Amino acid sequence: MYVKAVFFLSLCSTVICDSIVFNHLLGYSLYADANALYNSSNPQECIEACYDYYGCTGIQMLWGTGQCSFLQMFRGYTYNTNDCSFYVIQLSKVSVKGRNLTTPIDQQVQNLVYSTMDYCPFNWTIDHDNYLCKYTTTKQVCNQYEPFFEASWNKTECIIPLMNSYVKCPNHTYVYHQWSTAFSYCYYYTTWTPSGSSDLYTQADDYCYAQTGGHLVSIHSDDENEYVASFLKDTEAMIIGLVSKNGSVSTVDDLKWIDGMPVDYTNFTTGAKPTPTGSFKLTVIQASGLWDTDATSVTSFTGLLCKHDVEGYLVPIS
Ligand SMILES: *[C@@H]1O[C@H](CO)[C@@H](O)[C@H](O)[C@H]1NC(C)=O
Ligand SMILES: *[C@@H]1O[C@H](CO)[C@@H](O)[C@H](O)[C@H]1NC(C)=O
Ligand SMILES: *[C@@H]1O[C@H](CO)[C@@H](O)[C@H](O)[C@H]1NC(C)=O
Ligand SMILES: *[C@@H]1O[C@H](CO)[C@@H](O)[C@H](O)[C@H]1NC(C)=O
Ligand SMILES: *[C@@H]1O[C@H](CO)[C@@H](O)[C@H](O)[C@H]1NC(C)=O
Ligand SMILES: *[C@@H]1O[C@H](CO)[C@@H](O)[C@H](O)[C@H]1NC(C)=O
Ligand SMILES: *[C@@H]1O[C@H](CO)[C@@H](O)[C@H](O)[C@H]1NC(C)=O
Repeated sequence: MYVKAVFFLSLCSTVICDSIVFNHLLGYSLYADANALYNSSNPQECIEACYDYYGCTGIQMLWGTGQCSFLQMFRGYTYNTNDCSFYVIQLSKVSVKGRNLTTPIDQQVQNLVYSTMDYCPFNWTIDHDNYLCKYTTTKQVCNQYEPFFEASWNKTECIIPLMNSYVKCPNHTYVYHQWSTAFSYCYYYTTWTPSGSSDLYTQADDYCYAQTGGHLVSIHSDDENEYVASFLKDTEAMIIGLVSKNGSVSTVDDLKWIDGMPVDYTNFTTGAKPTPTGSFKLTVIQASGLWDTDATSVTSFTGLLCKHDVEGYLVPIS
């Protein structure tokens, strides 16, 4: 149920595949279902193949065999000093009522463990009468679920509490907006004046990240576009997170959203789309809601809109 997030936060080294972040775990082994093998001894190749494989949320390199396995249905982890074979996708944060996590690895694994949760984990049976989720499995597998689910095993089934799931913003500095049943985000408007000599959009995005942990806003619908434009008056303009993929821009296809979302909506002023002869630097939105890639007409920037993924919040039902 949770959106794939792109927080540039890592436990150790991070592999970035296009805009998708996988964290490389050092010193931990994960419990998960391996559902396919892939022939490659290159983690980057395995990660890309995993990303295209339905349900895959992590890989394990099977060093020395020329293969890796695709993982899903994460259950937990254990410390294992010598293990460096796991890479897992970075997902939105999930918290559980009444549980305080203390380490990044706990948070990382909790996000994975709950990523298929909708009352119950995927494929578990809902027992509405007793507020339980049940799953027929071995004691060993049930034990692996125990730390994250308060699971118990009754010699046949693994049993955990039924949970309601919600989404929320990290804190009250954000404004929550739902644009459709699938898309909701957190927004934070902040005043901002450029300084220094680095790229304007890099400065702006770094500022967003430092202030909010989010990124320069990306825009995916007319409603969201109108919302972003509503922060501007008259001749004001604001930098949005639509930037060059690799420095050379001749068409819209050469652009990406800095938060990693797909470019599925644009609203350029007539004549302002990137061209082979243009000199693209950044994208701005004007008070009219129209976008421009020519920022030379903008003499000053007054603010930024930062966007952050929603977080999952689970409440055990009792
Ligand atoms: C993967 O490698 C195994 C063993 O070398 C081989 O039998 C199999 O055909 C390979 N699979 C693919 C899809 O290349
Ligand atoms: C979690 O932390 C909060 C705030 O620090 C504290 O009030 C609460 O008692 C803690 N809950 C548990 C279950 O430890
Ligand atoms: C879900 O259940 C189906 C049918 O029992 C099974 O074929 C499938 O492998 C299960 N999927 C997962 C992820 O456990
Ligand atoms: C334990 O598992 C059995 C077999 O499915 C089931 O009939 C029984 O109700 C379960 N016990 C509890 C306390 O859920
Ligand atoms: C709100 O959450 C963001 C992201 O986690 C953080 O950067 C910011 O400092 C928080 N603000 C407050 C007032 O807690
Ligand atoms: C950058 O993108 C352009 C246009 O898509 C492409 O022609 C060029 O090869 C790319 N350069 C690099 C270094 O990836
Ligand atoms: C572009 O933005 C304007 C102003 O918000 C809006 O009226 C128009 O429908 C948008 N165009 C497209 C193609 O979304």
